[in-house]
Parts: sequence; structure tokens; C-alpha cells
Amino acid sequence: MSILSLKNIQYTYPLETEPVIKNVSLDLEAGKVYGVIGGNESGKTTLCNIMRGFIPELYKGTLSGDVLFNGKSISEYNIGELAAHIGYSFQNPFTQISGVKETVSEEIAYGMENLGVPREKMIQRVDELIQLFQLDDLKDKNPFELSGGQKQRVALASIVALDPEIIILDEPTSQLDPKSTEDIFKIVKHLKKAGKTIFLVEHKVDLLAEYCDEILVMSAGELVMKGKTTEILTDEKVVQYGGQLPQVTLYFLQAFGNQGKVPLTVAEAFSLLKGSE
Ligand SMILES: Nc1ncnc2c1ncn2[C@@H]1O[C@H](COP(=O)(O)OP(=O)(O)O)[C@@H](O)[C@H]1O
Ligand SMILES: [Mg+2]
Repeated sequence: MSILSLKNIQYTYPLETEPVIKNVSLDLEAGKVYGVIGGNESGKTTLCNIMRGFIPELYKGTLSGDVLFNGKSISEYNIGELAAHIGYSFQNPFTQISGVKETVSEEIAYGMENLGVPREKMIQRVDELIQLFQLDDLKDKNPFELSGGQKQRVALASIVALDPEIIILDEPTSQLDPKSTEDIFKIVKHLKKAGKTIFLVEHKVDLLAEYCDEILVMSAGELVMKGKTTEILTDEKVVQYGGQLPQVTLYFLQAFGNQGKVPLTVAEAFSLLKGSE
């Protein structure tokens, strides 16, 4: 059984006439990393908000179809309860720092406090997360003093602290430099190892190619492509839908066409070219 299922989802924002999500059905399997691409305003963020129950609960508007978490409609959960199962991180790390805590350690503990996690357990969990997210040197700093990449790591640690089964990351690296971006992807890899299901909206396809099991492509509110990373990110249709292909894949397709195996990463391209000598 899939951990999260969307069944014929259609959604129209309040006061709008046209739906921005059209007939989307989707099953997420537990433990997989899904990369989500598509043009601007194609509905990626809206879809994230539907998956975590913020639509229609907070945004209102008209939603039809159903979202099932472990087979049960998410409308049967309250939002707080759902947040412990489905973690969500925003595009902008600045907006997700609580603003009420003075140190990174306290910030990470904040969500657990709200859920009433016992103090002993909370301290132990914060220690583990500080190690995992490499925040040892920063743990006593004020979250507002951190760089964008550091804030994003703290924000992610706060979400992982609640031990959600599904983690939705909406463009987590859009404000980050290449080094901080790699750090986030390494965390994604670790979370996958820990059995989490990850829904990652991200434009950096070179990295998606390396880390994702499957790729979803959104275009004008529809889910237009879905499949294994190796199938989707070697298909030029992605570009027509407003997405991108990894650079090395694009060069390879231009040079050799889509015959036989097409590489997704530089390493794959090297071994393919070597093999054909
Ligand atoms: N709160 C809102 N009210 C009305 N329309 C919205 C709202 N938020 C987003 N939209 C519209 O919904 C469409 C999809 O937006 P969004 O989900 O943010 O796309 P993406 O994340 O792919 O850029 C866009 O046309 C956008 O203008
Ligand atoms: Mg968005």
C-alpha cells in the first residue's frame, strides 16, 4: 500500500474560477525519494499544501478528490496531528525560524515542546540532530545570526525532530550556494536511509538525477509525467513541459540522439563513452 495517495485532486483558490490543480492522481511509496519539477506557477507549491492538509483547511477554496495517508483520508486528522506525520519545509528558510527561541538547540526542540515530548527524550533527540545536521559549532547561536544555508539546516532539523514519515521539501536549496545545496542533498540521502519518504520540489536536476528514485513533472496544474528517474530525465518532453534535463544528458542527446543508454550524471557519461571506445 502506498503511504500517501492523491485521488483525482482538483483545486480552485478562493475567488478564482479556474482550477490550478487538475485531476492529479498519485501514489507515493514509503521510503522513496520523489523529485518534482515543472515550470513556474505550474502548481507545485499548491500540491504540497494539499498533501499536508493546509489546503483546504487554511486556504479554503474548492477541493475535490481525496488525499489518503496510510489509507485514511487526511481530512480525518487535525492539522497539528498531521504535521507530526507529514513534515514540510518552505522555500525560504527565513520564514520558518520560529522567532521565539534564542538558540539553535531550543529552536530544534520547539516543535517537540509543542507536541509534549518528555524533556529527557527531547534533549537526547536534539543532541542526535545536532550531530546529524553538523550544527555543533552553531548550537548556542541565535537562529537569526545564521547564514541562509545554516538556517535551512536548522529548519530541516526542526522538522526531522518530529520524526515524520513523509518529508515535503519545497525548493529547499533555492537560496543556497552549491556547498550548502550539497549539504541538503546529503541530508536527503540520510533521511532516505532512515526510511523516510521524501517529496522534493527542486530545479537542480543534476542533483535530482543523482538522488531521486522517481521524477514527477507538473505543467499547468497537471501531473504530466511520472516515472523512474532514468526514464524521465532522459526524455526531451520534460523540456517542452517547462522542466530541465541534466546538462550532461542534454549534451549526450544532442550529440548521439536517444539510442541505447543515455547518461544522467558525468560519471555515467564517462563510463558509457569509455565502453564504446
Ligand atoms: N493564494 C493564492 N490565491 C490565488 N492563486 C494562487 C495562490 N497561490 C498560488 N496561486 C496561483 O496558483 C498557480 C500555481 O501556483 P504555485 O502552486 O505557487 O506554483 P509553483 O509552486 O509551481 O510555482 C499560479 O497560477 C498561482 O498564481
Ligand atoms: Mg512554488
